[in-house]
Amino acid sequence: MSEQNIKDFWPICGGQVRTHAEKCVRLFPHAINKLFKELNIEEGGVLIDSLFEKIASVTPIKTNVIQHNETNETQSILNKYGSDKCQINHNYHLVYHDIFNNVKLKPNANVLEVGMGTNDPHAPSNMRSIYGRKDEWRPGASIRAMKEILPNANIFGADVDTSILFTEEKIRTSFVDQLEFDSFKVMHQNFGNPKYDLIIEDGLHAITSSIYTLVFGLENISEDGIIVLEDLPNPKGIWNMIGGKLQTMGYSAELFDARGLLFVVSRK
Ligand SMILES: C[S@@+](CC[C@H](N)C(=O)[O-])C[C@H]1O[C@@H](n2cnc3c(N)ncnc32)[C@H](O)[C@@H]1O
Repeated sequence: MSEQNIKDFWPICGGQVRTHAEKCVRLFPHAINKLFKELNIEEGGVLIDSLFEKIASVTPIKTNVIQHNETNETQSILNKYGSDKCQINHNYHLVYHDIFNNVKLKPNANVLEVGMGTNDPHAPSNMRSIYGRKDEWRPGASIRAMKEILPNANIFGADVDTSILFTEEKIRTSFVDQLEFDSFKVMHQNFGNPKYDLIIEDGLHAITSSIYTLVFGLENISEDGIIVLEDLPNPKGIWNMIGGKLQTMGYSAELFDARGLLFVVSRK
């Protein structure tokens, strides 16, 4: 890809992932082709050429706008452990409350979260640079919160920062680099190749890494599994395109605007 192309693609990789922008841009065609293959879109190469025009012309999928600010038990537990899912303006507890209630009904659910919450100020998407030098943002917070909320579930966490990996009852963690698609396979093997009932992406939040995570998710969720991609990266319209296609394949795909945009995919 030439420098001019990289500049043209820049908007898809700007923002908080600048340090990885070049890699995101380089891998973006690979990621989108992998996704199109997964979605049975055969003319992937052609679509990439005209991707941005196509994005502009698709019918938007349903966006659930959550305007109220209610608190709930999910929020208190996430906050207690030091997760950022309800911080700044995010109201993600209002989306996760129903999802967790759904997963709770399963006796032995497998739940995976990619992005455990490093505090290393030099790491991409670290909690300290985003939220400041507070101690309450703790690595592993959201997976520990899920362990409390979903006591019967097996919880899996994965992160590129190996210094924050740990094991404890009901929780196993592994290295994954969302920009190296093959590393998902290694992570999955480390966990014993389960089918996941819930997969949450809360990692790099670049378009390429989110798409790779979605592809991994579509290949590895259970029959009625759910995939959540948090803090959707630009271009936003791409999620309408992907969501629309997923709907034609028997999935449900919705956007939730909970002061931060979430993409929620499930098998109907
Ligand atoms: C905002 S934090 C996650 C917060 C946590 N889920 C919570 O709710 O408390 C984002 C995490 O993504 C991880 N991350 C960044 N780039 C990544 C990559 N390429 N692959 C996997 N994880 C990555 C960071 O190390 C960081 O731990």
